Amino acid sequence: MKPSNLHRLRNQQNPKPADRSAPRPTDPLPLTFINMSMSADGKIASSNREISSFGSPTDQKRLLQIRARAHAVMAGARTVDGNPVTLEPGPAYYRRLRLRRGLPEYNLRVVVSGTGTLHPDAELFRHTNSPIIILTTDRIGAQQRQRLESVATEVRICGDQSIDFPQTLRWLRQKWGVEQLLCEGGGELNAALLRAGLVTRLFLTICPLILGGRKAPTLAGGLDPSHLGDSVRLRLDSTQRKDGEIFLEYEVIAAPGPLACARQNAGSTPLSLPGTPPTS
Ligand SMILES: NC(=O)c1ccc[n+]([C@@H]2O[C@H](COP(=O)([O-])OP(=O)(O)OC[C@H]3O[C@@H](n4cnc5c(N)ncnc54)[C@H](OP(=O)(O)O)[C@@H]3O)[C@@H](O)[C@H]2O)c1
Repeated sequence: MKPSNLHRLRNQQNPKPADRSAPRPTDPLPLTFINMSMSADGKIASSNREISSFGSPTDQKRLLQIRARAHAVMAGARTVDGNPVTLEPGPAYYRRLRLRRGLPEYNLRVVVSGTGTLHPDAELFRHTNSPIIILTTDRIGAQQRQRLESVATEVRICGDQSIDFPQTLRWLRQKWGVEQLLCEGGGELNAALLRAGLVTRLFLTICPLILGGRKAPTLAGGLDPSHLGDSVRLRLDSTQRKDGEIFLEYEVIAAPGPLACARQNAGSTPLSLPGTPPTS
């Protein structure tokens, strides 16, 4: 990103004036939801990561429709630098929808990279319509930090060994006005948020194919409970079927982390989506 663009973005969007570096545990969290598509055998990509996009045009429209409800869209480093993703709102129809809903025309973009392995040549950085925040830890090397600072709007240290997600999400809300946060994977990032009890809804598309592959990633690869009671429990809120795909919306009703706290702080308003939007 050009320095002039960076300067503009650092002053743009809606960073709140009071940037207290440490939000209080009682400060509100964003409402956080996940959207993913998976194969009929539960994989989100092939094991060599060559295949990672297999949803229909309807699935793509649904993705944009869900983005149009979020102040910020977040993804993990491997999702961002392994694919030509932009995390942007898409065509004018969706940007107008955002404005009608009182959201900024372009959503904030957030990438999680705990050790700073995120590649600064990723496609995301070529799109400069909205700020890009990188969340990392003290494990990032000085050189990597410098490289990422040259392409992102802000690189934020969010913990020494691991990211303190509750605190970081509070900070996103406090500084950047993120009330609704959409996470678009991958599996490692999803798992961290679910484990921390921060996710209140899951949008899932089941696509009509089988990818196989013992090492192929799944929706929440880092979750590995030893007891059924420790699993994340969902309640199915809605189903739609179109073009051979099934679109599901779940509410997260129990998770290992302090979900009750996330609920209390963020609310769990259903985001049920109306029918597929027109193409424009
Ligand atoms: N089908 C779908 O809907 C869908 C959606 C998204 C992604 N995908 C696919 O899923 C694959 C990527 O998933 P993935 O699970 O391998 O990777 P990922 O979650 O996208 O990224 C993993 C990287 O992100 C950072 N990260 C994630 N969680 C972190 C945490 N809790 N703390 C600190 N850093 C964290 C780390 O970066 P550092 O290495 O810098 O520490 C980690 O190496 C790709 O093939 C992608 O195409 C599919």
